[in-house]
Amino acid sequence: MPANKKILVLPGDGIGPEVMRETERVMDWLAKRRSFSYEVSRGLVGGSAYDAKGVSITDETVADAMAADAVLFGSVGGPKWDNVARQHRPEAGLLRLRKDLDLFANLRPAIVFDSMLDASTLKPEVVKGLDLMIIRELTSGVYFGEPRGSFKKPDGTRYAIDTQCYTAPEVERVARVGFDLAKKRGNKLHSIEKANVMETGVFWRAEVTALHKKDYASVELHHMYADNCAMQLVRNPKQFDVIVTDNLFGDLLSDCAAMLTGSLGMLPSASLGWADSSGRRRALYEPVHGSAPDIAGKNLANPIAQLLSLSMMLRYSFDDGASADLVDDAIQRVLASGVRTGDIMAQGARKVSTVEMGSAILAELDKLV
Ligand code: IPM
Ligand code: MN
Repeated sequence: MPANKKILVLPGDGIGPEVMRETERVMDWLAKRRSFSYEVSRGLVGGSAYDAKGVSITDETVADAMAADAVLFGSVGGPKWDNVARQHRPEAGLLRLRKDLDLFANLRPAIVFDSMLDASTLKPEVVKGLDLMIIRELTSGVYFGEPRGSFKKPDGTRYAIDTQCYTAPEVERVARVGFDLAKKRGNKLHSIEKANVMETGVFWRAEVTALHKKDYASVELHHMYADNCAMQLVRNPKQFDVIVTDNLFGDLLSDCAAMLTGSLGMLPSASLGWADSSGRRRALYEPVHGSAPDIAGKNLANPIAQLLSLSMMLRYSFDDGASADLVDDAIQRVLASGVRTGDIMAQGARKVSTVEMGSAILAELDKLV
């Protein structure tokens, strides 16, 4: 692997710093044992940045993220910042990173490993062997549409507006990611919107259909309304291979899909931009779970989603599938041996802390090489 990959680590708030610490131990291990050569810089984001700097991310940190080969992100938010103005809220730092780095394709895999079957609230036969990928559009839609805000009519009635807007290029580029990924997997793509109610839904469906006809006719394409998709995800999730959808539906459906696996603490994600002429692609890797303020600082959090985000980084940004496989295998072996954090605790398993889970995974890594 080429030397000196630049990684910006942004642990954030809540459980972010704890799960990131375990991930950095694995990065150290990779540096020693796999000659994974990288430079880490660290920054503040979210509430911790607000407390220190008065903003949820500074311009300097955004510039560092732009210059990095990959950003490894923890989580942001917490009740402490509930009353902060919206533009300074912890989430604003994350949204700015997504927008400024133009990370329009958010890949959220939901995989059920046999060792984890008992952690799901669904019947084992419904989720056994599940392997689906949600691609969420991440830089447009109602998260960013204008106009937005709270207003008052002349008669004094107060109201608020959010705007859902999608341009043709925005739909096309994320749909392309969906089709391309489907081709590498089960060759089946579900495109999700609400064309029965929303103009943007009708538009989304037409754009995806046109692109399918033009460049991807060999991929099996299905259109589905978002409410039906939510229902189908819990009824029969194995009908899906790749799902592509907008920012807000993607937010909801990926939480739903994540829970099929038993815990939000298990799900990583990759947010990718377009590759530039040199093939370099901006990328940010983060767990799907949030900052879990209720268990923050207690050494209880599950570090696996953060670790799997590292593994996605190795795979997608650094083209190092072998190291990624090692990390994934070590995690599988630890789970199969019955070592569990509280969120995925099962009968007969050994309950461990965040740090103990990290140590167990490092011990498996040692055995694997
Ligand atoms: C996610 C989170 C974020 C989102 C929040 C923290 C802004 O829920 O990444 O899914 O809504 O996109
Ligand atoms: Mn979410």
